[in-house]
Amino acid sequence: MEEEFHKVRRLPPYVFEQVNRLKASARSRGADIIDLGMGNPDLPTPKSIVDKLCEVVRDPRTHRYSSSRGIPGLRRAQANYYARRFGVKLDPETQIVATLGSKEGFANMAQAITAPGDVILCPNPTYPIHAFGFIMSGGVIRSLQAEPDAGFIPALERGVRHSIPKPLALILNYPSNPTAHVATLDFYKDVVAYAKKNDIIILSDLAYSEIYFDGNPPPSVLQVPGAIDITVEFTSMSKTFSMPGWRMGFAVGNERLIAALTRVKSYLDYGAFTPIQVAATTALNGDGADIAEVRDIYHRRRDVMVDSFGRAGWVIPAPAASMFAWAPIPGPFRHLGSLEFSKLLIEHADVAVAPGVGFGEHGDDFVRIALVENEHRIRQAARNIKRFFTSSAKQPNNVVPLAAHR
Ligand SMILES: Cc1ncc(COP(=O)(O)O)c(C=O)c1O
Repeated sequence: MEEEFHKVRRLPPYVFEQVNRLKASARSRGADIIDLGMGNPDLPTPKSIVDKLCEVVRDPRTHRYSSSRGIPGLRRAQANYYARRFGVKLDPETQIVATLGSKEGFANMAQAITAPGDVILCPNPTYPIHAFGFIMSGGVIRSLQAEPDAGFIPALERGVRHSIPKPLALILNYPSNPTAHVATLDFYKDVVAYAKKNDIIILSDLAYSEIYFDGNPPPSVLQVPGAIDITVEFTSMSKTFSMPGWRMGFAVGNERLIAALTRVKSYLDYGAFTPIQVAATTALNGDGADIAEVRDIYHRRRDVMVDSFGRAGWVIPAPAASMFAWAPIPGPFRHLGSLEFSKLLIEHADVAVAPGVGFGEHGDDFVRIALVENEHRIRQAARNIKRFFTSSAKQPNNVVPLAAHR
């Protein structure tokens, strides 16, 4: 048997695949699985954005190769968004590039800046591309805590002190997927000061900039004066405008880093289809009503989830932002780990969640619950889970096979 290719060998089997397979086989048996697993928004893209796409696509001039770094109007719209929302001034010519979703931008930034063996400081647990974008580019990951609390800077200092060579970059992701932690501007100030002193690049993933609750909009790290000297930030239209399949995002910030990403991308792609770029421009230039509607829907779902799961006996901290709850595995099941617990939920409650271990080893006491089903289905999931908890308390060995105990 031939050996696996060098890069493919560095990609572990996808944990979520095991849950997906179980989900598919339960569905093939006729089970109605309530899928709170993948972070795939279920809401339709607002009509005005779809209409714009349909209008523009009729013009054959838009069928040619587009601009890899984004059409000028789109980059200007993103600059206006940063000015409006964060009070951050950006030059659309040199400090903004459009990406094919933020995931592509992040992965190609890793490709652009990483030399073999470069050390990257990365939260654990985190969204997988944060680590694997760099691993595929020959980098080495050193894990950091995900919580943006008082322990973060000491952990960062330890990470830097004990890494040889000195780390190239630090990854931040607040609001976090999967943990839903939100950072304050003061936190960012401390991190930027430390990173500047130690000549470390900051890559900030702000995919959930607009999905926040209780009137607390998450800040951008670029709001810290001077952060732009070392920082690039990634935003996404996938969640903000319910456009995940459209593949539209942005990288903004330091000119040298943006130039490196733009250059790599100019060799790899021709940019998003022009009608998508034009429709995305319309979306960004909108009055914010579409964003508020999406935010309200996730807000209501969050409240329903926290309330109904709590009444089912599963107390879950209410996330302040993002479209996820980071749910501690209930005590009686914690010893099983997140993958086995997720499998039990599919088999015995017809509910799919994402096992925390899929986001890193430090996520194994949790599962991630995505708010991607409607309120009625979330309540139904809570009822199913309550039934499962009750029956497993009465007959534990009928529900949790002995072999599953670690
Ligand atoms: C933190 C985070 N970053 C990036 C992405 C990818 O977004 P996009 O669709 O823009 O590639 C996701 C999607 O779930 C995410 O949760």
